[in-house]
This record gives sequence, C-alpha cells and structure tokens, in this order.
Amino acid sequence: PRNAARGSDGVVRLAGVPVSELAAEFGTPLFVVDEDDFRSRCRDMARAFGDPARVHYASKAFLCSAVARWVAEEGLSLDVCSAGELATALHAGFPAERIAVHGNNKSVPELDAAVRAGVGHVVLDSMIEIERLDRIAGAVGVVQDVLVRVTVGVEAHTHEFIATAHEDQKFGFSIAGGDAMAAITRVFATDNLRLVGLHSHIGSQIFDVAGFELAAHRVIGLLRAVVADFGVPKTSQMAIVDLGGGLGISYVPDDDPPPLNELAAKLAVIVAAESAAVGLPTPELAVEPGRAIAGPGTVTLYEVGTVKDVQLGANARRRYISVDGGMSDNIRTALYQADYECRLVSRISTAPDVVARIVGKHCESGDVVVRDQWMPDDVGPGDLIAVAATGAYCYSMSSRYNMLPRPAVVAVRDGVARALLRRETMADLLGLEVEE
Ligand code: LLP
Repeated sequence: PRNAARGSDGVVRLAGVPVSELAAEFGTPLFVVDEDDFRSRCRDMARAFGDPARVHYASKAFLCSAVARWVAEEGLSLDVCSAGELATALHAGFPAERIAVHGNNKSVPELDAAVRAGVGHVVLDSMIEIERLDRIAGAVGVVQDVLVRVTVGVEAHTHEFIATAHEDQKFGFSIAGGDAMAAITRVFATDNLRLVGLHSHIGSQIFDVAGFELAAHRVIGLLRAVVADFGVPKTSQMAIVDLGGGLGISYVPDDDPPPLNELAAKLAVIVAAESAAVGLPTPELAVEPGRAIAGPGTVTLYEVGTVKDVQLGANARRRYISVDGGMSDNIRTALYQADYECRLVSRISTAPDVVARIVGKHCESGDVVVRDQWMPDDVGPGDLIAVAATGAYCYSMSSRYNMLPRPAVVAVRDGVARALLRRETMADLLGLEVEE
C-alpha cells in the first residue's frame, strides 16, 4: 500500500501502525486495510471518469459495512450481486438509488428485495429475468430502471484479449447472435421496466486497453442499431454505457497496468464520437472497478510456523516456509496461479536471501500463498510475513477449509488501527451445528 514504510528505526508500519503491534493486538493471519489508500483510489477513479456516481465499486472484491460507508462517503455507487451484498450495503446505510444489482441468476426474493429497497438499476441477464423483474416491479407498483447486459465478443485475460469463443458463457445477451436486440425489444414492451442503458463486462485483471476500446465500439454499435430500429426519442433514455470492471493491478513488479486517466479518456472519446454520429446525446460512461480500488491497499500478515528444506534431485533444494493461514484466506494462488510478493516485516535480517515457497497450513500440496520469493535464509518460527495486494478476492473468497476460523480484518489510518471484522472463533464454527 501507499502508506507502508520501514522507518529509520527499522520498524515496518502500515499507515503509521507497527506491524508487530497489529499482530500482537489482533492475531494472525490478519488482513490490514489501508483506509486512505482505498479512499484515494475511489477518488482517482471518480476523477478519471468524471462523475463519482458513475463509478460503481464492485463489492464482490471485498465488502463489509465500513467499506460500504467509505464508498458512500466518497460519492461512488455500488455494484452488488447477491442478497447478502445488498443487505450489507443497506445495513451500512448505503443510498439505495446508488446501488446496481448484478447476477445471472438473481432469485425472486433477491429481485423483490432490490426493487423494494429502491435500487438505482438492475442489470438484466436473461429473458426469464426480464419477465420475472417486470412482474415484481408491477406487484410493488414501481417502474424499475434496468440495463441490459450484453456480450461484445471480446474475452479479456490478463495480458491479452481474444475475440473468439467469447459467446459461449453464461453471462449476458450476445450482440452478434441477435439476442441483445431481442432482449432490448422485449424490455421496451414491458410495462414496469425502463431501459436506461447497456452493460458489458469483458473480464478481470486486464492490462490491455484495446479490449475495453473494442467493447466500447461494439456497445455503441448496438446503440446505433437500437436507434435505427426504435428511433432517437425511444432510445434517448438509454443514457448509461457501463463497461464493467476488470482494470488490472500490480501484484508483482512485472505487472504493468495501463494508466487510469488514459483509459478513461480513450473510452470517453469513443462513446462521445460514436453517439454524436447518430444524433444521440452522449451517454454517461460508467464502470465497475473492484480489484483496482480494493486490491492494492491491503496486506495479509502471517506468522511463520515451520521451515523445511526439501531435496530436489542431486543438488537442488526447495525451502518451504509455512504460515498460519493459506488457501482458506487466499485461494487465488491455487485457483488462478496468481502471483504475489511478500516480505519479512517483523525484523531486519542481514542473512543472505534464498528462494522460498510460502505455503499455508492446509492439508493439500496445492496450498501455496507465494510460489517463489527471495527470503532471508534465517526466517523462522515467530517471524511475521506480509503478503501485498490482498485486498480483492481474498477475504471475499475465503473459506473455513480444514475448519480454520476466518481471519480478522482491520483498517489502519493515521497511526490508528480498528477492527472491521472480528476473527471467527471455534464457537462460530460450532454455531452451525444442529444439536440432537
Ligand atoms: N462488474 C462485473 C459484472 C463483474 O463480474 C466483475 C467481476 C466486476 C465488475 C469487477 O471486476 P474487477 O474490477 O474486480 O476486475 N475472483 C477473480 C475475479 C473474478 C471477477 C468477477 N467479476 C479473482 O480473484 O481474480
């Protein structure tokens, strides 16, 4: 995070709080969120895209009430995709009109809760859902604003994007196949839904701006086709072009995400020029960043338990450093072969570095946190290790595998730490048991 530093006294601090104090007070493993970092990334996004309310923080990356309040205070909107995320946002007092609802299989109760709460818009993902939501809005007695989620024929991966095999996925309505136009036509015919724009999400941890640009071209292309079929008056209410999330972040030095301002400016130009060409008012460009806001400013603190050298053939050895968490608090290395970096943070070591594999305490060999990392040779039991950029999709994808209670999450700011989520306890684990 921006506010991590080793002081002249050799102590590593996160937003002014020494890591060893954090570990002593809250235990390990521990997620430490730098509140100012999170908030300043909200502001950077708002500045780049012009209007904070058109930046929807994707709560799937990490959500708790405090985070929802930070997002609300920074003026951003929120994207939720389950009853749980919606309930957390509402519990935190997040303004309902700035909430957008996602998902390819939103249940009747989820849609009903969203409509009754007065959410800003629902992003429609199937024909069944169009009928379902129209009925629910009618029963509640409101006209619900909606976007239609389309697939643009671009599937982005970390370092490149491919324009094939993209239609074969569960999300959205295909533009090329005509499903998108059919969905739009159907929404126009409902009594209780008002189409306010189009939505596309091409993937996650993307470094190639060209994927977003192609998506923008294709969404506006569809808008032009809608104008041709339905005329400008009907289409002019479709003011939002939402290009989803996906902006990549730097986990390791080789990662090279595109500059935010450059991406935002390029997309704004495409959207403005192409809508002007068909006589439409310029749509508002919306985005849904999760990782790029929540990811970089959080570290996970672990305590080392054991160290083992394993002989690999005649003259190679591998160092395994085991920490007190693992795939239950960060599944991303095992699931996506994700890269992370870590440091020894509890003391300064002058020992030479050796390549080490940082592993968890779970009962499978794929339980790796950091695959290969130079670490001082003398790292041993009791040392604290910090893994960087764990704010997105680590806690939110955590599990209780091997019955490990989930870690606590604390926020640090101006030299002060406060708990956001307490550590789970054995009582939490046993609390689900139905006693005979
Ligand atoms: N909008 C929609 C509709 C999405 O599906 C997602 C992410 C986002 C926004 C936010 O994307 P972001 O800006 O965070 O990349 N578990 C994976 C990431 C899955 C992302 C799913 N959708 C990971 O750990 O890398």
